[in-house]
Parts: sequence; C-alpha cells; structure tokens
Amino acid sequence: MGKVIVLDHPLIKHKLTFIRDKNTGSKEFRELVKEVSMLMAYEVTRDLPLEEIEVETPITTTKAQIISGKKLGLVPILRAGLGMVDGMLNLLPAAKVGHVGLYRDPETLKPVEYYCKLPYDIEERELIVLDPMLATGGSATAAIDFLKKKGSNSIKLVCLIAAPEGIDAVQKAHPDVDIYVASIDEKLNEDAYIVPGLGDAGDRLFGTK
Ligand code: PRP
Ligand code: URA
Repeated sequence: MGKVIVLDHPLIKHKLTFIRDKNTGSKEFRELVKEVSMLMAYEVTRDLPLEEIEVETPITTTKAQIISGKKLGLVPILRAGLGMVDGMLNLLPAAKVGHVGLYRDPETLKPVEYYCKLPYDIEERELIVLDPMLATGGSATAAIDFLKKKGSNSIKLVCLIAAPEGIDAVQKAHPDVDIYVASIDEKLNEDAYIVPGLGDAGDRLFGTK
C-alpha cells in the first residue's frame, strides 16, 4: 500500500489557512499555492538519491554530495494543477513538465480527458503528479492510469487537500503510489466538494465563476 504523508509544517499550515479563506482573492491565492507547493517540494524530494563528488572550497578539497542523476517530471492535472508547477520548479528547475487535461463532469462526477502532452522519456523519470484537490480521487486515479499506460513506473501524487475517500480510491487503484498532502479534510459533501476544503480550486486560481 502506498504511503500517505501529511506535510504539516507550521509554514504550510499557516499558508493553507489563508488559501482556504473565501475572502482571499485570486492573486493572493495563486501566490500562496505557489509558496506551499515550493515547501512541499522540499519534502517530496527527501528520498532523492545522492552521490559523492570532490569539491574544492577556498580552504581545501573535500568530498560532498550532489543529487545523483535522478530525472524528474512534474505532471499538473489541468487546470488547477498548474497553480503548483512554478513553486515546484523553483526548487526543481531541471524537471520537465508534462500536462494532463482532465475535468470532472458535473453530472457524473467522472473525469473526462481532453489534453495530454508529456516528456518523451517519462519511463525514465520519477513523475510528480500535481493537483490541489483529491476529492473522489477519480481525476488523480485516471491521470495515474494514463501515465502508467504511457510507460511510467515511478509516480508520486502531491495534493494540497485530500478527502479520505480520495485517498482510499487512489490507494486501491494504485498501491505503488505515495500520496503527499498538506491536509486530510473531513469528508465530501453531496456535490463531491471537500469539506471544509477551499471551494473550487480552478475557479479560485484563475478567477472564473
Ligand atoms: C478539480 C480538481 C481535481 C478534481 C478533483 O478539477 O483540480 O482535478 O476536481 O476531484 P476528484 O478527486 O473528485 O476527481 P476540476 O474537475 O474542477 O477541473 P478544473 O481544474 O479544470 O477546474
Ligand atoms: N474540486 C475542487 O476544486 N474542489 C473540491 O472541493 C473538489 C473537487
């Protein structure tokens, strides 16, 4: 079973509070999502392999460590996942970015795919799938299904807020995928929105609605 890692650092908790606040406008919302994503990138990459090299300091030569050739790919689920890309790229500037477009049909609540463009070598990369919201888990499960069909065998999922139902769904469908979240909220409401959540992440990021 994949691990669920709750990143409950005080800075993340503090910023998430203002992300949840309905009075936070799009500009500030975007900035906060970017900042939290950057903080999450720090923990999500904790297990990256290191290798030793020799480096010359102004004083002497010493052995020191660098990240050892692990190729990363960020895969935001459109639209709302886009809000997490820049923060992650701040810490992981060499990562390639692929895009998977999915929206949740408001009637059936099932994910509908409408776009896909991925790095050509995804099977060699550790993919980090980004979506602020893990509600029923339908979108994340479909995106991961899709990435595996395209050849990926190393995937992490990073979300700001998850409902227990979404975590269960992803863990059942993809037991090899670890899930990183800033908060596990209480439940889904009758419209499959996360409670208390933050509302509609795409609309709040892009000012639609
Ligand atoms: C939101 C969110 C997730 C999905 C989560 O996207 O960004 O992708 O819903 O719900 P689920 O876990 O029940 O699938 P939405 O479908 O609203 O599309 P958008 O990002 O284009 O607004
Ligand atoms: N998608 C969102 O943007 N918010 C939710 O609470 C659930 C799905």
